[in-house]
Amino acid sequence: MPYSAMNPHLLDFKSVQLEPFVHQVGGHSGFFHINNETLCKPLVDREHFFYENLPANLKEFIPEYRGEIVVQMIEDTDGYVTLVGYPTEYSSGILNSKKCSSCTYNSNSPTMDSMCDTSADKVSCLENQHANSNSLDPHRHRPLQSRIIEDTTKSEQQSPTEEHDAIGGINPWSLKCHKQTLSRMKKNTGLNSYKFILLENVAAQFYFPCILDLKMGTRQHGDDATEEKKKRHTRKCQSTTSSSIGVRVCGMQVHQVDTGRYICHNKYYGRSLTVEGFKLELLQFLHNGCTSRIDLVTPIIHRLLKLQDAIERRDSFRFYSSSLLIMYEGSTSLVNEASLQAINKDDPKNHSVSVSSENIDVRMIDFAHSTHQGFSGDKTVHKGPDKGYLFGLKNLVQAFIDIKKWYSENETSRP
Ligand SMILES: Nc1ncnc2c1ncn2[C@@H]1O[C@H](COP(=O)(O)OP(=O)(O)OP(=O)(O)O)[C@@H](O)[C@H]1O
Ligand SMILES: [Mg+2]
Repeated sequence: MPYSAMNPHLLDFKSVQLEPFVHQVGGHSGFFHINNETLCKPLVDREHFFYENLPANLKEFIPEYRGEIVVQMIEDTDGYVTLVGYPTEYSSGILNSKKCSSCTYNSNSPTMDSMCDTSADKVSCLENQHANSNSLDPHRHRPLQSRIIEDTTKSEQQSPTEEHDAIGGINPWSLKCHKQTLSRMKKNTGLNSYKFILLENVAAQFYFPCILDLKMGTRQHGDDATEEKKKRHTRKCQSTTSSSIGVRVCGMQVHQVDTGRYICHNKYYGRSLTVEGFKLELLQFLHNGCTSRIDLVTPIIHRLLKLQDAIERRDSFRFYSSSLLIMYEGSTSLVNEASLQAINKDDPKNHSVSVSSENIDVRMIDFAHSTHQGFSGDKTVHKGPDKGYLFGLKNLVQAFIDIKKWYSENETSRP
């Protein structure tokens, strides 16, 4: 990730300030954003190459790639950190064409230091960022108080398998990743420029994004993994649902309409689940605190089957350690709660017609260990489509079918 020398011609383009992305449910590196629609992820060469060479039939399932950006870390004498990004000519063009209003931040823009320091007076960054990321509904945001950061810090000390509420709408996992990323950057003395890739924020289409991150496939290590890494990843697969069903939970947040908060589960929680627990997690993901969104199951299944068809056609592709994001709108002002309850309880056969498929999305992410024929410098060429991935998809579809069936039988057996 470190980028040792600033490329002077990049400075010709308008600089942008990076803000922390609060709806990050999994992963290890902190994600930032430069506007509501565009995220920044630390650049990894393999992933960068993958995005630059996307096969046409997978594009609709993958976030749009929007170029790269060089990011400079600026730390002031009080220890406040600001991340300033310099788009390349290509990414600058894309960003301008998106009419991004928040690309120019004034000098009073909040800084990143709240991610590294939990003191009460350094939290404006998250407060402002949260407001930006949800700019469609200005009434939803409570000002972020110092108590919130303290609570979040406490929750990190709990067992990783416990569930945490998102505090102030900020996913605790997201906070943890940002703290780690920024403290790593701060320690990197001598190097203060980093490369990031710009990606479409696929959560931006939702007011209250409910997000499930599923690591797909029965194998997680790339072809270039060391023996030690291979063993470690194989053990992780064997001790989780990855081996048995080809999919495991890596993170989840689901909006609760009764409390207005998110329930969040992290990757450690996901690793602790049995196959039965995995299915219950899908149910939890569909439950909004008042009712189960069984109406979304059919659109999700349709999308997964379409993805299955696309993956089957990708000879030689392997998506080791990549994730599938399943998302839906948690807002009840967009979907009438009373009518949903009526549909779920009284007429289970009508589930599929209640909500349009626009309320859900399914996307593949995380390609740092993916490969395919012609992948820059890779010696191993795999034959046929990714069987481990398809095994996971098949079991996932079956789990959703089982949920639908169970609900249908349960409801029709009611007196
Ligand atoms: N394009 C995107 N739009 C919205 N959210 C995203 C996007 N890409 C990633 N995320 C969020 O960031 C999280 C981490 O993403 P990702 O898996 O790519 O990170 P990573 O650090 O490479 O992961 P890993 O630790 O598995 O290698 C996801 O769980 C998701 O919540
Ligand atoms: Mg990931």
